[in-house]
Amino acid sequence: MVIFNRSAAIGKILRRCHRAVAAKNSGNHLTCFHGLWPVSEQNDFEQHMRIIPDFISETEEKQLHEEIEPYMSRLRYEFDHWDDAIHGFRETERKKWYPTNRDVLERVRQVAFEGAIMPYVHVLDLAADGVIKPHVDSTRYCGNTISGISLLSDSVMRLVRADAEKYQQSSTGTTSKENDVDADANDAAYRHQPEAKLENNFYADLLLPRRSLYIMSHTARYNFTHEILANERSLFLGKPIKKTRRISIICRNDP
Ligand code: OGA
Ligand code: MN
Repeated sequence: MVIFNRSAAIGKILRRCHRAVAAKNSGNHLTCFHGLWPVSEQNDFEQHMRIIPDFISETEEKQLHEEIEPYMSRLRYEFDHWDDAIHGFRETERKKWYPTNRDVLERVRQVAFEGAIMPYVHVLDLAADGVIKPHVDSTRYCGNTISGISLLSDSVMRLVRADAEKYQQSSTGTTSKENDVDADANDAAYRHQPEAKLENNFYADLLLPRRSLYIMSHTARYNFTHEILANERSLFLGKPIKKTRRISIICRNDP
């Protein structure tokens, strides 16, 4: 009989987190690995899920916020559809930006993308009690890289390995869930919600500090669900991370 030594397992996890803390300059200190990661998977993941702290200055954060706020504040937060991947949010897409903000987006493009980004940048405003549930962005609408600048709040993003065998988006991007609904207008068309359990699996928690940029590409984008933890569950290295209202500015490339 195999006896699971819980305290040894927890010790191992904490040691790994502390190693991550030691790797400060690379932004790796913002990642905490949980579960048993195959070494090659972890190496790939570290290359393809990056966080750059202080990507924008306080002034740039203010300028981005000021451009978005007049439009955004007129929308109401949506809490209606519990099935949807995002709860407690309002959102818009923006093509034309003030010159200073355009410069920030150009910097994102240079740092995070190999080529062009989609002309419409997605702006997502998550209420303090909002949540982004585990999902994978549809391969029909989004290419191999997704980047996000966080405004106004820190948060914790969790990436959980989805079972690659069971979770396959077909070439049309249609899942059985989508067949039940009007796929064009529905959130389900953009965000798939494959099952990704924490038990007997491996996953990573990422601290996304306010004003940071994350870059999620390749394996991190395709083989893992991503989510933003609700404020009540928002912990990093055991420490509560208060999530207040958070605005993310998300750039994607074409499929
Ligand atoms: C999404 C998403 C993450 C973020 O809109 O699909 O995952 O940083 N957003 O807001
Ligand atoms: Mn997403």
